[in-house]
Amino acid sequence: MSIILWNNQLINEEEINISKEDRGYQFGDGIYEVIRVYDGSMYTAKEHIDRLYESADKIRLIIPHTKDVFHKMMYDLIEANEVVTGQVYVQVTRGVSARQHQFPSPSVECVITAYTKEVARPVTQMANGVSAKTVEDVRWLRCDIKSLNLLGNVLAKQEAHDEGCFEAVLHRGDVITEGSSSNMYGVRGGVLYTHPATNYILNGITRRVILECCEEIGLPVVEEAMSLTNLYDHEEFFMSSTTAEILPIIMIDRKPIGTGLPGSWTTKLQAAFEAKINKAVLA
Ligand code: PDD
Repeated sequence: MSIILWNNQLINEEEINISKEDRGYQFGDGIYEVIRVYDGSMYTAKEHIDRLYESADKIRLIIPHTKDVFHKMMYDLIEANEVVTGQVYVQVTRGVSARQHQFPSPSVECVITAYTKEVARPVTQMANGVSAKTVEDVRWLRCDIKSLNLLGNVLAKQEAHDEGCFEAVLHRGDVITEGSSSNMYGVRGGVLYTHPATNYILNGITRRVILECCEEIGLPVVEEAMSLTNLYDHEEFFMSSTTAEILPIIMIDRKPIGTGLPGSWTTKLQAAFEAKINKAVLA
């Protein structure tokens, strides 16, 4: 049986009692994070918790704990469930209140829910690569907020899955933004391109680690959006996220990227990323 965090308490999963009037349930009025667990400890926990608090600020939601207390809550949850290789999912909603669009007044306590799960590293996809489908990005204009409102992302991912693809490459017109649940990168002429961290994308924690890895392996980075028009001019393409790590994208819309095999820069980045995980786990 799994232990979950519900507000301030660790309880058995069956004991949770989510209200029908939780604003997360009714409006998607809340925020979330997914944090990787390697060898029983959280990877880049500080960065994820900082981003959660930033998302909270951006939607004017108050989390009534210090970041240190919040970190300890996640730590205790992982320990209680004895997670080895997995993830923590945590969400915070604006709380329970009779349904009305504006914020509850007087304000109510937020609702925090978190659970853990064993999630294997996607080693086969990391080695072989995956395929993707281009999908128009019809999401709202605050994709920098890790909001519970994921309908645009869900519909895009489904469209990709319907075609047997692993991920959607989202684009606003000719401009490639990111994936439905990942960031996107291309390598062209020995330079890495990725959308700048604006309101059009979520600034992935994995993305930030990858940009450090680029510096370490001597791959120049240009934070400039790629265009659909020159999509196939890229020799390499890949995606990143907390759970997926770095996955080569070898086909887009059934056409190969480069040689149709994972590229050498992508493989080097995977190795640099792996070294960072190992260093963090040993620390
Ligand atoms: N998604 N962009 C979007 C839209 C995402 O949903 C995610 C992550 C990312 C990558 O961010 P990070 O490297 O911090 O995981 C980019 C998570 C994993 C999810 O919703 O499951």
